[in-house]
Amino acid sequence: MRLALIAAGMLVTLAGASALAQDPGEHRPAGQGKQIYQRANCVGCHKWHGDGGGGYGGDALSLRKSALTREQIIEVLSCGRPGTGMPYHLRGAYDGDGCYGITRQELGKDIPIEPLAYLRPSEIEAVTDYVIANVQHRGEPSYSDCEAFFGTGARTCNTYKSAAAAPAGGTE
Ligand code: HEC
Repeated sequence: MRLALIAAGMLVTLAGASALAQDPGEHRPAGQGKQIYQRANCVGCHKWHGDGGGGYGGDALSLRKSALTREQIIEVLSCGRPGTGMPYHLRGAYDGDGCYGITRQELGKDIPIEPLAYLRPSEIEAVTDYVIANVQHRGEPSYSDCEAFFGTGARTCNTYKSAAAAPAGGTE
């Protein structure tokens, strides 16, 4: 189990991999969920800020505005959304009828697309908790959100600087 975890974390940076190895799950370092957000390419469709938008996955919904509960997010990540661009991330999700009570055969071509990286249940929980803590219900993406994602002073965040100067109704 632990070995498999480490193997799954091979694309993650060393720091991430050692966090995975040390931490069986209770109190996860915030970085783990974020690394999964990047490694599983949530970032490619939903963008770093989670607001989504057009892209090769179709219109990825805004995670900032999502009203889903933790359980529902875990289900969407595990099972994807049939007929949309949202991939499933749990290996073998449609081998049985554990996802929405539907099997691969019944879904036919509507089966959600395969993920870039399969995730273990504990990784799905970690990235779910990352989304809940850092993305969901956070309003418009701000300069400080951007720095939290890319690092202090990151150039790519400069576009958010002017917005930071003029308070745009943020709560923080
Ligand atoms: C290939 C593009 C793509 C990738 C990769 C992707 N998503 Fe999505 N996601 C979508 C699309 C498209 C939707 C909208 C589905 C729909 O129309 O119901 C969606 C929907 C969702 C929803 C449901 C939101 C709601 O309010 O109903 C959640 C939660 C979500 N994605 C989280 C994630 C996370 C976390 C990851 C990474 C593990 C991820 N997604 C990876 C494209 C993607």
